[in-house]
Amino acid sequence: MIEQVPDTFRAFRIHNDEDGYRAGVESITLADLDEGDVTIRVRHSDINYKDALAGTGKGKILRRYPMCGGIDAAGTVVASTSDAFEPGQEVLVTGYGLSETRDGGYTEYLRLDSGMLVDLPAGLSLFDSMVIGTAGFTAALSLYRMEINGQKPEHGPIVVTGATGGVGSMAIDILTGAGYEVHAISGKTEQFEWLESLGASQCFSRHELEWGQRPLESARWAGCVDSVGGAMLSGIAAAIKPWGNIASCGLAGGMKLQTTVMPFIIRGVSLLGIDSPQCPHPIREEVWSRLGGAWRPRFLVEICRQRVGLEEMDEVFNRMLAGDSLGRVVVDL
Ligand SMILES: NC(=O)c1ccc[n+]([C@@H]2O[C@H](COP(=O)([O-])OP(=O)(O)OC[C@H]3O[C@@H](n4cnc5c(N)ncnc54)[C@H](OP(=O)(O)O)[C@@H]3O)[C@@H](O)[C@H]2O)c1
Repeated sequence: MIEQVPDTFRAFRIHNDEDGYRAGVESITLADLDEGDVTIRVRHSDINYKDALAGTGKGKILRRYPMCGGIDAAGTVVASTSDAFEPGQEVLVTGYGLSETRDGGYTEYLRLDSGMLVDLPAGLSLFDSMVIGTAGFTAALSLYRMEINGQKPEHGPIVVTGATGGVGSMAIDILTGAGYEVHAISGKTEQFEWLESLGASQCFSRHELEWGQRPLESARWAGCVDSVGGAMLSGIAAAIKPWGNIASCGLAGGMKLQTTVMPFIIRGVSLLGIDSPQCPHPIREEVWSRLGGAWRPRFLVEICRQRVGLEEMDEVFNRMLAGDSLGRVVVDL
């Protein structure tokens, strides 16, 4: 049965005006939302690092106010003037300026441009797709770009940084499922067993790793999915094997990168930039279809550490910004 859009519904709205920066659940109408040719009943969203920055005001993410938070959404089409989508169809959206330049997924109903939507891939439920969300899509996009650039399992282990986080835990699951040996670097030694249960064959404490000072250190890894940046990425760049690929996706540990050209010109290492929000649509559809098929994460239940409602997100935001997040958090609507 296709739902009618009610006169009012719940949304997590972020304001910044003369009364200051504040965010919380309120009752809104469809007319309060950005326009779009497709209206969906959002069933699930999720919480990413960027959502925590936006929801608390600790990072300047939103370009205007007020706006609904949430960079991801999955739900069912309830109205459409696009030929590509019809009521009842299950869809998802990640990035595309959600919770940045237009209303995001923390709302029971959302209007979107049809060009932003991806058909829910066969093999995934709406819930599964939001356990994956931007974090898992980013991990899969990293592997997609690495493989286009020649990465193969037989080249050796891939190191994943920020391993217990959203991108990191999803990367371990997806890479090991695709046949790669994965090493994990984490600040949480007490979670090494959990990381091994997701497929990591070796775990290293980021507090104990010594990177050395030379432009090229001994080559340990054939590639890297890095969500930490800063000194971690600088150290890893000197420790990648010839012709290896580093997918740079995040800055949880800092944005400054200090390196030399030596890894690039002496070892042929490639530094691949991962910008999931603006990923071209055909690549987006291809990566999502792999996420529902050959790259389907095997440990979605284990990686989804928490499910929350719109009222319970502040605590998750604060934990995430303190570096204490674990796996993924799904928002139920
Ligand atoms: N480029 C893109 O398209 C894209 C997409 C998604 C996310 N990102 C970025 O990727 C990063 C991770 O996002 P996420 O959603 O996975 O966040 P998350 O769930 O909070 O995970 C981040 C992880 O990084 C590690 N970490 C935190 N603080 C650190 C520090 N000071 N030094 C070193 N490691 C630290 C922690 O893992 P351990 O304790 O295990 O070390 C933490 O769990 C963020 O910077 C985010 O903005 C980018």
